[in-house]
Amino acid sequence: MASRWSPDSWQMHEARHLPRYEDAAALAEAERTLSNYPPLVFAGEARALTADLAEVAAGKAFLLQGGDCAESFAEFHPNNIRDTFRVLLQMAVVLTFAGKQPVVKVGRMAGQFAKPRSSASETQGEQTLPSYLGDIVNGIEFEDGARRNDPARMVRAYSQAAATLNLLRAFAGGGYANLRQVHQWTLDFMGRSPWADKFAQTADRIGEALDFMEACGIDPATVPQLKGTSFYTSHEALLLPYEQAMTRQDSLTGDWYDTSAHMVWIGDRTRFAGSAHIEFARGIGNPLGMKCGPSLEPDELLRLLDTLNPAREPGRITLIARFGHDKVEAGLPRLLRAVTREGHPVVWSCDPMHGNVVKSDSGYKTRPFDRILAETRSFFAVHRAEGTHPGGIHVEMTGQDVTECVGGAVAITDAALADRYHTHCDPRLNAAQSLELAFLIAEMVNRQSAGQRAAA
Ligand code: PEP
Ligand code: CO
Repeated sequence: MASRWSPDSWQMHEARHLPRYEDAAALAEAERTLSNYPPLVFAGEARALTADLAEVAAGKAFLLQGGDCAESFAEFHPNNIRDTFRVLLQMAVVLTFAGKQPVVKVGRMAGQFAKPRSSASETQGEQTLPSYLGDIVNGIEFEDGARRNDPARMVRAYSQAAATLNLLRAFAGGGYANLRQVHQWTLDFMGRSPWADKFAQTADRIGEALDFMEACGIDPATVPQLKGTSFYTSHEALLLPYEQAMTRQDSLTGDWYDTSAHMVWIGDRTRFAGSAHIEFARGIGNPLGMKCGPSLEPDELLRLLDTLNPAREPGRITLIARFGHDKVEAGLPRLLRAVTREGHPVVWSCDPMHGNVVKSDSGYKTRPFDRILAETRSFFAVHRAEGTHPGGIHVEMTGQDVTECVGGAVAITDAALADRYHTHCDPRLNAAQSLELAFLIAEMVNRQSAGQRAAA
C-alpha cells in the first residue's frame, strides 16, 4: 500500500534533475514567499480540464498541447504570448474542422521554465560550467555568475507566469479568440504563403461552414462559444521546490492541487518507479501528463499508472509518446496493448519533437520537419491498427518566424538555421510550420474517418 502523501513527501524519494542550491536560507526564503502568493489557477479549473480530457480519452475530442520548449525571461513579451496563442487557436480550428470534434487547447505556457539536461556541465573552449537548467534556476549566458543556481529566480518566474496567464485569460475570454477572426488570420497567413495552395480547399470549406452557420443565425454575436474559448496552461513539474510551494488544499473538496498550472507532466527522465517526481504527482488532483519514451517497458508503465491513477479516473492521465520517427512503430503498440488490456482510461498524445533531435551540419540542434511528420503519421497509423484513439499532439512551437527546425513547405535549410535561432532549449516549429503540421494532421484525420466510413 502506498504510504501517506504530503506536498513534501517527495523529499524522501530519489530525485533526479533537481538543482542543488548553495544558499539554503535563500531557498527557504523563496519557498516562503511563493507559498504566500496567490494560486495561479483554481482547483475547479483543473477539474474542468480533467473532464475535457476524459472526453478525449473516450475518443470524443482531441488534445492540442503546445508552446515553447523553455520560456525565458528574455523572450517575455506580450507579442510573443499573443502570437503563440494565435497560432495554437488557428491549429485548433483546422483540427476541429477535420476531426469534427472539440479540440482541448493546452499551452506549454505560463510556467514552462525548468529543464532537465542530458549533461550536468557544458564545456566551451577551455572552460567548463554547470549546464543551463532553465531561467527559473540559472542563466543561459556562458558565465560563472549566470550559471549559479539562484532560488530568487523562482519568484521572478512566478511573476512572469502570472502575467502571462493573465493575458491568456484575457485573450481567451475577451473576444480575441472569436472563431471568425481566427479563421481570417489563417486566410491572411495563407495569402502570404507560397505553399498555401495545398491547403486552400480545407480553408475554403471552413469558411463555407462559417458562412452557413452565420446564415442560420449562429455567429459570435449570438453564440458565446464562438466568441471565446477555453485555454489551459501546463508545464513539466520538474522543479519540485517550486511546485511544492504552489501546492494548496482546495477549500471545496479538501484535495491538494498544484496551482502553478492546470496540467503538469512528468518528463521522460524522471518518470521511473519510486521517483520523487512520481511521488509528488500522485498526490495532486491536477490532470497529469507522463512522457513515454523508448526505454519505458509495458510492466513499468502499468505500475506507474496504478500509482498515479489508482481510481482509474478518465482524463487524469495523458500519456505522451515521444519515441522518434524510427522507433514509434515498434515501441508504441506494446504500451498501447498493455494499457488497453488493463482498462486504464488514458489520453494518448503524440510528441513528435523529443525523439527527433539531430545535430545539423552547421552545428545547430535541429529537428527535421519530415521526421516530425513521419512520427505523427506512424502514431496515427498505430492507433488505427490497434483500434484506439489517437487523442492528441504535443508540440514545441512558437508564433514567431524563427528558424530552428529544418524543412517544412517554406523549407528552412541548414544554412538558414543561423538566421533566427532563438530557442532557450530545443528547436521549435515556427508559425508556418505549426500551421502546416495542423493541416497535414487534418488530412490524416480525414483519411482515418473516410476509412471508418468505408468499413462501416
Ligand atoms: C520537454 O518536453 O521539453 C522534455 C524535456 O521532454 P522529454 O521529457 O520527453 O524529454
Ligand atoms: Co523540449
